Amino acid sequence: MALLEVCGLRAGYGKIDILHDVDVALEAGTLCAIVGANGAGKTTLLLAISAIIAKRAGTVYFNGADVTKLPPHALVHRGLLHVPEGRRMLAQMSVEENLQVAAAVRGAAGFASIDGLLDRFPILRTRRNVPAGSLSGGEQQMLAIARALAAGPTALLLDEPSMGLAPKLVDEIFHIIASERANGTSILLVEQNARRALAIADRAYVMERGRIVLTGTGAELLDNREVTAAYLGT
Ligand SMILES: Nc1ncnc2c1ncn2[C@@H]1O[C@H](COP(=O)(O)OP(=O)(O)OP(=O)(O)O)[C@@H](O)[C@H]1O
Ligand SMILES: [Mg+2]
Repeated sequence: MALLEVCGLRAGYGKIDILHDVDVALEAGTLCAIVGANGAGKTTLLLAISAIIAKRAGTVYFNGADVTKLPPHALVHRGLLHVPEGRRMLAQMSVEENLQVAAAVRGAAGFASIDGLLDRFPILRTRRNVPAGSLSGGEQQMLAIARALAAGPTALLLDEPSMGLAPKLVDEIFHIIASERANGTSILLVEQNARRALAIADRAYVMERGRIVLTGTGAELLDNREVTAAYLGT
């Protein structure tokens, strides 16, 4: 069984179902990309996996256990960390306090990890005493990812981590994602930047109107004409 398995997932908003019978598997230690047009349901998928919205049907297994009915904080305690679109953080608190709050879920080991995290995010070290709300967009995105790492994730759900960032920061984000995967963290990555996401993905899924319509290795989908025509602008 994969580290994270989503089977037959249905979810939506109000009277409308957005996700229909979605199956996704994330193998331990790998990176899996989800690509698809705007409105395809990628964000909804991550929200449903992490229990921020309800699952209407289907099952989610994580680390060998059925976690379908667990609330968000219980998933965080099990090591499933979601970095949402839009980078929510504690705006009044400093960068370092934000990291401390996130690290607290694993106690002393979490606090001890903060200095190492600031080494990996030099921008955050220089801004450590600044209120998070006053960071630039790129800095906020770095902090959102650093916070998830402070919690010691087994698996990370990343929703558009490079959105709106300058090219140099996009490079930095992709570098951090790759190094975190190399550390053994499993990553489910939703990215607008489909070409780059597929280039580093072990496996990838294409989503259309709330359904998975294609899956393969990242390389296979990069090679697929329909995928390149629809999502890679070639
Ligand atoms: N809170 C909500 N209430 C009602 N409908 C919603 C809500 N959030 C999203 N939707 C609808 O659900 C569908 C899927 O949206 P979702 O945000 O999951 O797509 P996405 O693939 O993440 O798109 P994008 O690439 O733009 O981020 C869209 O039709 C969207 O309008
Ligand atoms: Mg989205």
